Amino acid sequence: MVNKITVVGAGNVGATTAQRIAEKSLGRTVVMVDVVEGVPQGKGLDQWESAPVEGFDTRVIGSNGYEETAGSDIVVITAGIARKPGMSRDDLLNTNAGIVKSVAEQIKATSPNAIVIVVSNPLDVMCHVAKHVTGFPRERVIGMAGVLDTARYRSFIAEALDVSVRDIQAMVLGGHGDTMVPLISYTTISGIPITQLMPREQLDAIVQRARDGGAEIVKYLKTGSAYYAPSSGAVEMVDAIVHDRKRILPCAAWLEGEYGMSGLFLGVPCKLGKNGLEKILEIELTADERTALDRSAQAVREPMSVLSL
Ligand code: NAI
Ligand code: 2OP
Repeated sequence: MVNKITVVGAGNVGATTAQRIAEKSLGRTVVMVDVVEGVPQGKGLDQWESAPVEGFDTRVIGSNGYEETAGSDIVVITAGIARKPGMSRDDLLNTNAGIVKSVAEQIKATSPNAIVIVVSNPLDVMCHVAKHVTGFPRERVIGMAGVLDTARYRSFIAEALDVSVRDIQAMVLGGHGDTMVPLISYTTISGIPITQLMPREQLDAIVQRARDGGAEIVKYLKTGSAYYAPSSGAVEMVDAIVHDRKRILPCAAWLEGEYGMSGLFLGVPCKLGKNGLEKILEIELTADERTALDRSAQAVREPMSVLSL
């Protein structure tokens, strides 16, 4: 366990993330920060009161400021507004850029050595804002989206094949949006290529459902977006870092020549350990996957170009 983990934003994703971190005893203290008076304090206290039953000693506290967060080892940024029906992730751009900018300034001032995991949308661009404002090296600013998109893809495959989710190995790369790239060529069921177990049309439908996975939940919820699976994704990354697991996970990373691209965050296979992003793996892609990744990168660059930092 590390000493302190901060979760900024005590909304649906943030609060669920804090609770999961506490239940897994990943930090001695979890600090939830939100601008709404009383909410982080109330949720933090409520979570701490679950400790005797759940059996964790992680102290969860809430705050409207950053004093209590000082010296955090890891900071998860979930602050921002969430999607409502009819809104794309890019509709959130300007509002959330302002929010993430102010959050990043505070993190830089109070936790200069923290590893930052960004969740706020539009994800790849918000990672850019966080990295630019903190000035942290790319090893310490990583985005969560690929783990979620892959979890959705894996859950749909497991359901369709009536097999355990544990046996589905897969990876979804690219930006966190409609252009994300589920890698069919690396999708296996206990090592068996998916194409041997499922007709192509069914697989294509699953790929599309994964791409639309966020919107599917928004349509049901009407007043917000998904948070159980997103918080699981963020906590899987926190766990990999806290336990120095050297996990290979699809994360948004700042590219410096990998996959022939530079100057943007994009979902790629990453090794996560105690130093944060420890390596980006450059894997072979089929021609279709390569084209799709380039298209996805273009979709990330477009909103970046209208961002004023
Ligand atoms: P939410 O509306 O439930 O919570 C957001 C919280 O941020 C609110 O409590 C709000 O008061 C707080 N906040 C706003 N400005 C703040 C500031 N300056 N400092 C601290 N807190 C501030 O929204 P939810 O569902 O928790 O989603 C949070 C963000 O995560 C959204 O941008 C959403 O689109 C994104 N998201 C990203 C996913 C991904 O895969 N990367 C998946 C799910 C959500
Ligand atoms: C999701 O994929 C809205 O990005 C969020 O659920």
